[in-house]
Amino acid sequence: MKKVVAKTSEIREGEIKAFKVDGKQIILVKNGGKIYALSRFCTHEEADLSTGFLLEDRLVCPLHLSQFDLKSGAALTPPATEPLASYVVEVVEDMVVLDF
Ligand code: FES
Repeated sequence: MKKVVAKTSEIREGEIKAFKVDGKQIILVKNGGKIYALSRFCTHEEADLSTGFLLEDRLVCPLHLSQFDLKSGAALTPPATEPLASYVVEVVEDMVVLDF
């Protein structure tokens, strides 16, 4: 199901922003001009990834520094081993639309 989550102007380059959509906690991340959508909480011990940071094309957990692939959500470094949920993002005019 497709859902409008935000306006593109709400997310600046390099920013990680939390949103709640249909009860799901997600983050939108803008990196290299592209917007990515992932689940908000780390698969290791549920740290809030909206307070994490970016390292090139990876999202870094603020608690134990696992790195996740922005595109796929894959856990690339321990201690996390499970991927984050990742969502397909479409930009329609000035809206960020996710496919859940
Ligand atoms: S809570 Fe994210 S790596 Fe531990």
